[in-house]
Amino acid sequence: MASALPTSFPAEVVPQAPEDPLFGLMRAYKADPSPNKVDLGIGAYRDDNAKPWVLPVVKKADEIVRNDPEANHEYLPIAGLASLTSKAAELVFGASSPALAEKRVASVQAISGTGALHLGALFLAKFYKIAGANRTVYLSNPTWANHHQIFTNVGLPIASYPYFDKSTRGLDFEGMKATLRDAPDGSIVVLHACAHNPTGVDPSPEQWAELAQLLKEKRHFPFFDTAYQGFASGDLDRDASSIRLFVEAGFELVVAQSFAKNFGLYGQRAGCFHYVAAPAPSAAETTTRVASQLAILQRSEISNPPIYGAKIASIVLNDPALFAEWQDNLRTMSGRIIDMRKQLRSKLEELGTPGTWNHITDQIGMFSFTGLTEPQVLKLREEYHIYMTKNGRISMAGLNSRNVEYVAKAVDKVVRETQ
Ligand SMILES: Cc1ncc(COP(=O)(O)O)c(C=O)c1O
Repeated sequence: MASALPTSFPAEVVPQAPEDPLFGLMRAYKADPSPNKVDLGIGAYRDDNAKPWVLPVVKKADEIVRNDPEANHEYLPIAGLASLTSKAAELVFGASSPALAEKRVASVQAISGTGALHLGALFLAKFYKIAGANRTVYLSNPTWANHHQIFTNVGLPIASYPYFDKSTRGLDFEGMKATLRDAPDGSIVVLHACAHNPTGVDPSPEQWAELAQLLKEKRHFPFFDTAYQGFASGDLDRDASSIRLFVEAGFELVVAQSFAKNFGLYGQRAGCFHYVAAPAPSAAETTTRVASQLAILQRSEISNPPIYGAKIASIVLNDPALFAEWQDNLRTMSGRIIDMRKQLRSKLEELGTPGTWNHITDQIGMFSFTGLTEPQVLKLREEYHIYMTKNGRISMAGLNSRNVEYVAKAVDKVVRETQ
């Protein structure tokens, strides 16, 4: 046998990485033979039968794509499908946004929200170098875990600002403001536009206005992540109001937009990245320059974005009747989730489960930070086959009319036993 060459990647250099905790959880759930098992870890919508839901409007748009005699599998342009990116921008900023009229927005199709975040992070890593500006990226504590890796991978330092108040299970607004006030001027601040993941806690409109004021004074750079527009409240405009407030306040900012949840297009990887220039005589020219560099970054990363999901979303966004139907589908999803929140809270309150449970309905979106401790989470998994992440986050989409009572009773028992 020829002598084997030693690897260039020994364990000291390439250590075995831990499994992504969410995927580990999913695997444990799948392997559990219990008929009572409940998956509250999933980050995807499920209908009342615990099944993935293909939005009826997406089915229709899919039919249109498949029956189009002109359809082919050619490359999209580098910046993506223009009929999608233009409507995607209107969706976020509002069709009558002065930023759009003044050509202050550059939009690029991206590999869903993650790809948009990555493209934005890469752009900032390469170009956010204003003299004296800090390049640290401030993330909420906690945040969607991938944010840490996405910004670290492009070489940007990360820091965190307080977000969740464990005692109220609401927003730690004072802590958040204090840290952002103390942060060096010009820091990058990642903000969840709505339906904060993992807490389900959003600032109120008044708090958003205060944050805009604070970020302006500090010349911080807002980086919005919008993965749940329309999915949170059922109202597309309301779920975009935080971003629109910042645009109206004259910020230069960026937005990573995902169509995974609100279209149920998870695996199709449809999304957009938007850059908005602050109002200025040179804003349109700045936007053109930024767009040209985004195109180069996109080219080197993925060449051109994927076509299929983009076509589906574009058809829906460009057809008034389908758009109305989409809004209806969004209300079905958000309505079911809000209903599950109400049911879980009222069942826990009926049982007299120790503690307060108003946060279940105060929080919004796919996730709720229940306040359950790690030992309680593990007990729920081992004794009741109910799966959630160790931080006590539950996906509301995993609850349905058949398991909500079972979950409430199990939580009640576990909370009492571990008091
Ligand atoms: C806060 C947040 N941002 C971004 C994403 C991006 O998801 P995707 O890349 O599937 O669009 C998610 C998905 O869970 C999310 O929760």
